[in-house]
This record gives sequence, C-alpha cells and structure tokens, in this order.
Amino acid sequence: MNVKPDFSKNANMASTAPAFLSVYDMHAYYGESYIIQGISFNVHEGEILALLGRNGAGKTTTLRGIARMDAPQVTHGEIWLDHQHLHTMKSHQAAVAGIGLVPEDRSIIPGLTVEENLQLAQIVEPIGWTLDRLYDLFPRLGERRKQEGVTLSGGEQQMLAIARALARDIKVLLLDEPYEGLAPVIVDEIEKTLIHIKEQGITTVIVEQNAVRALELADRSVILDTGSIVFDGTAAEVLENAELRAEYLAI
Ligand SMILES: Nc1ncnc2c1ncn2[C@@H]1O[C@H](COP(=O)(O)OP(=O)(O)OP(=O)(O)O)[C@@H](O)[C@H]1O
Ligand SMILES: [Mg+2]
Repeated sequence: MNVKPDFSKNANMASTAPAFLSVYDMHAYYGESYIIQGISFNVHEGEILALLGRNGAGKTTTLRGIARMDAPQVTHGEIWLDHQHLHTMKSHQAAVAGIGLVPEDRSIIPGLTVEENLQLAQIVEPIGWTLDRLYDLFPRLGERRKQEGVTLSGGEQQMLAIARALARDIKVLLLDEPYEGLAPVIVDEIEKTLIHIKEQGITTVIVEQNAVRALELADRSVILDTGSIVFDGTAAEVLENAELRAEYLAI
C-alpha cells in the first residue's frame, strides 16, 4: 500500500506544478475545526480520479477547498491548475480559471427553466459547450428545456448540474456524489456521459459513496481518512486490495 505520497523527492513540485491539477500541503478549517490536515495529490490531465473515504473523511471539504469556496478556510498550501495558482483566487475566479464544481445538492436555481439554468452559467466568460452540444450529450435535457429545473427528476437534475458546469469552459469537473439517490439504470446513463466527457479531454475528480462504481470508472484514486491521505494509486489497486477497502471504505 502506498501510504502518503512522498513529495520529498520532488521538493520543487509546487513551483514547477508538474501535474494538471496539484494540491500541495493543503490545510483547511471550518472555524476552529481543523479538517484537512496537510494533503498533497496530483490529478493528471484527462484522467478521472476517484476521491474516496468514509463519511466525514473530508472529501467535500477538499473539493470546496479546490473550488475556493468561502468555507472551508484554506490556511496553508498551494493549489495549481494548469500553471495558474488557484490558492490566491476567490471562487468566481477559480470558476473562470476552469474549475467546475457540481455540489452534492446540485444547486439547480428555482424559478428558472432547464435552458435558463444553462444560459445563466454562460454569463460567466469564457463560454464552454454550446446548448446544442449539451443537449446532444443529455437528450433528456433537450426534451425538457422549457421545464423548470427544480421539477426535474433526481437523475435529470444531476444531468443539468453537470451540463451547467460544462456550459462554462472548464478544465476540471469536480463531482460530489453524482450517483446519490439515483437508480442503477440512471447511474449507468450518467456514467456513460462521464466517459464521453473524459473523451473530450476534460479532467474529472469524482467523490462517491458508491466507491466500486467510481473505481470502475476512474483511472486513479486518492483515499482520505480524517483529513489525511492514506492511499494514492491506481483504481485497480484499490479494487484488488480487500484490506484497504475494508479499512478505509467499509466495502
Ligand atoms: N460547515 C461546516 N462546519 C463545521 N464542520 C464541518 C462543516 N462541513 C463539514 N464539517 C466537518 O468536516 C468534516 C469533513 O466533512 P466533509 O463534508 O468534508 O466529509 P465527507 O468526506 O464529504 O463526508 P460524507 O461522505 O459524509 O459526505 C466532518 O467532520 C464534518 O462534520
Ligand atoms: Mg461529502
């Protein structure tokens, strides 16, 4: 098992930013609560990384830290995306830099149709996928373009949340529990779209309770436990390692 990635051999990592998305020694707090306790990992361009761990391990906090949300407070560390330092940015700047966070609650805007939700995302420059391209990927959204977004089914809302991220010109898609509460057949449908999105060159970090499904989709995995990284390796290694799965994923 690869316990905690060793950056000592690559002391210049932060300044040379070798990977597409690099998190280097990130520490994050909610108020006085010390949650993310110095994590470092890389995400390579075009790959899917599964960020896993038990409830409360710090997965959502990590995604929010990368997306530069107001909470948590990232007090230390560096976050690089394609040679841009995200750690000095606010969330709207990180969005323009290419971060697309799809939060767990999907955050569909009430009172707006499917299409208006997508158009609102495109107000932020630079614009990404066109509406036609998004509807090609998600035909269900095209059929329902005039329907109020919040009246969509859970699966359709998840599709809208992903489409809304792609409506901006993103480099990295951060997905927080995209399969939550969805029937297996809908999970299959969303998984197919994630494969298509990968084929378009977009890099993805997926956080998922359904760890096996996420690992089957992912190239690599990082496992968190109480705010620290306990594994960084290939998805296949996790699938093959029953001890690791039992200890940190309870599967
Ligand atoms: N807004 C907040 N204020 C204070 N503590 C928080 C806040 N959000 C999360 N925490 C705490 O931070 C820790 C990590 O939470 P986080 O949501 O990142 O976990 P997670 O790995 O995403 O878990 P889950 O699988 O349940 O979604 C938990 O102990 C949680 O209680
Ligand atoms: Mg979470």
